[in-house]
Amino acid sequence: MSERVADANCLLGVLHVADHRVVPWAGGVFRRGLSRETAVMDVLVTGATGRLGTRLVEPLQAAGHSVRRMSRRGAGPGGVRGDLATGFDLATALAGAEVVVHAASDPRGDPWQVDVAGTRRLVQGVDRDRLRHLVYVSIVGVDRIPYGYYRAKFAAEQVLLASGLPVTLLRITQFHDFVDDLLDTARRGPVLPVPMGWRVQPVDVGEAAQHVVDVVGRPPTGDVVEYGGPEDLSAADLARAWVAARAPGTHVVATPVPGKLGAAFRDGAAVSTGGERGRRTYAEHLHGS
Ligand SMILES: NC(=O)c1ccc[n+]([C@@H]2O[C@H](COP(=O)([O-])OP(=O)(O)OC[C@H]3O[C@@H](n4cnc5c(N)ncnc54)[C@H](OP(=O)(O)O)[C@@H]3O)[C@@H](O)[C@H]2O)c1
Repeated sequence: MSERVADANCLLGVLHVADHRVVPWAGGVFRRGLSRETAVMDVLVTGATGRLGTRLVEPLQAAGHSVRRMSRRGAGPGGVRGDLATGFDLATALAGAEVVVHAASDPRGDPWQVDVAGTRRLVQGVDRDRLRHLVYVSIVGVDRIPYGYYRAKFAAEQVLLASGLPVTLLRITQFHDFVDDLLDTARRGPVLPVPMGWRVQPVDVGEAAQHVVDVVGRPPTGDVVEYGGPEDLSAADLARAWVAARAPGTHVVATPVPGKLGAAFRDGAAVSTGGERGRRTYAEHLHGS
């Protein structure tokens, strides 16, 4: 299965596809010139090569932090190697970290190994005396939507809640770019099937990244907080906007999705119920404004 098709199948919750099958602080050093409230910390970002991770480095550095970017290859400036699936190089990557932004995930592979067991390895590897905040990036609805990848994310949240570490579990809605990829993959020639009645609330990944940085600078909540986009939309409306901007002439076909997964999305389980919201709309994203 190609990566793009697998991406559509794992969906992170937005779409269903064409053939009607459900595939479905405090502390730290204050840096001169920055606000007295900005503590300079050693931040390790896991998943630093991903959609969100690549957008985190700049605002973290702008907030005064020193940033190390973990991925399996550890490439690029500030790059460190660490593999959550095997534990290789993880201890070295975690050494010295005062903050961990945990944004690594493997939706297309084995999330139970990477997201759940990997989060357990991460919990065991952190320096408890030094760690001030671990921000885990999760997804709105992981507690309510019966979908395998979401179950793994929810299990990873439980690992962190049980760890005794200073954590914040930040559940975010789908990123605009991710929605684009899903829609592009779901399109079948002139037809774009979308799940009927599903409610979504996409968010700009840059705004989400800035929000993660804001959360890093706040005290750990020890619980879940949510962050979503500005609009509560139907998947069909979202698809029509995408078609108009990116694939004119494509016909959007709303398709019923039976079962508990479909019901959860129709009930709005993927839409945030509290927390802060981004401002950039999906239309603004599509038109580059
Ligand atoms: N996409 C969305 O719309 C969305 C919405 C809300 C929340 N989230 C959550 O936000 C987080 C980031 O999502 P994303 O879309 O930015 O993810 P992504 O683009 O798929 O990136 C995944 C990251 O995880 C790393 N990774 C995968 N397997 C690993 C392993 N075994 N060891 C260490 N690192 C590994 C990858 O690094 P390498 O492959 O380079 O090693 C990559 O940097 C995820 O937890 C996701 O659940 C995503």
